[in-house]
Amino acid sequence: MVTGPATDASILGIETSCDETAAAVVIDGRSIRSSIVSSQVDLHARFGGVVPEIASRAHVDLVGPVIAEALGEATIDLDELTAIAACRGPGLAGALLVGVSAAKALALVTGLPYVAVNHLEAHLYAAWLEDPDLQPPIAVLVVSGGHTLVVIMEAHGRYRVVGQTVDDAAGEAFDKVARHLGLGYPGGPAIDRVAATGDPDAIRFPRAMPGEPDFSFAGLKTAVVTHLRRQPDASVADVAASFQAAAVDQLVDKLLAAADQAQASTLVLGGGVAANSALRARVGAAAASTGRQAFLPPPALCTDNAAMIAAAAWWRLAADGPTPLDDGVDPTLGLPVIA
Ligand code: KG4
Ligand code: ZN
Repeated sequence: MVTGPATDASILGIETSCDETAAAVVIDGRSIRSSIVSSQVDLHARFGGVVPEIASRAHVDLVGPVIAEALGEATIDLDELTAIAACRGPGLAGALLVGVSAAKALALVTGLPYVAVNHLEAHLYAAWLEDPDLQPPIAVLVVSGGHTLVVIMEAHGRYRVVGQTVDDAAGEAFDKVARHLGLGYPGGPAIDRVAATGDPDAIRFPRAMPGEPDFSFAGLKTAVVTHLRRQPDASVADVAASFQAAAVDQLVDKLLAAADQAQASTLVLGGGVAANSALRARVGAAAASTGRQAFLPPPALCTDNAAMIAAAAWWRLAADGPTPLDDGVDPTLGLPVIA
């Protein structure tokens, strides 16, 4: 049983790093009282990707109502909270500033502690919301639109990055391939849906960098584009399923190799691509066949949300105490790693 730093601590988390405006109230880093996510997907879809200035403006409009809704659904007043947390990076600078400024303003008026949270660390903590009894060491695959890394979590706050992408993030590859297949934005969920009706063995796309801990997705994307150019009438479902199979093979192989090396008996997924049904099925099956446990947060906790921010904040508050109010945002923040 993992014991936490404080009990009956209600933390309001705020997430505005990209195109989701989210707020949540979580008790003791594990129990979700409310989790509100307002997606801006419709605002960005016609541009084929997130437009930073549009995202920032939408966050300004939405952050107040979303926080109010999170507090209302949790039936908790501001003065009953223990702390107020926001994501300080990585992400879009203007977007991050909206959430961080809102959290600091609320901390100032209430006198509550402010806690700055690392978005990547928060993705790791989504699994703890599902299972508070997870025992490190844990091999975590964080796969999102901006990041692809395998992390060995040795203890709370102690991370070793054992592999990361040398070019595109996995989510970026899903989004780019979806655009070439005419499936729109965001591409990950669209490929996931279409691939369900295709043959994953129809085309053998490359599995990059075998035997190495790092990932690469640029070559896979180019292979799909080249295939489509040569065979414009190819079945979209077969191409999507074959691309997805190649991407998932690479992700799972490297996660398992890292788990072997670290003798980690628990596998965890985090980040938007962790919502992918093929990836979830493969990790579940791989865990079962190698005598490991797999913890796959539900899709709503894999994609960006504020419950993961509030959960990570609970551990950070215990480890580091409140964050000074003059702490800024950091668009290129990495995971805090041990030497
Ligand atoms: O973690 P996230 O919500 O935002 C970032 O921090 O980037 O991840 C978004 C990424 C996008 O690239 C999206 O296409 C991908 O996650 N994604 C998926 C699925 N759902 C979201 N990729 C594959 N399959 C899915 N079901
Ligand atoms: Zn994310």
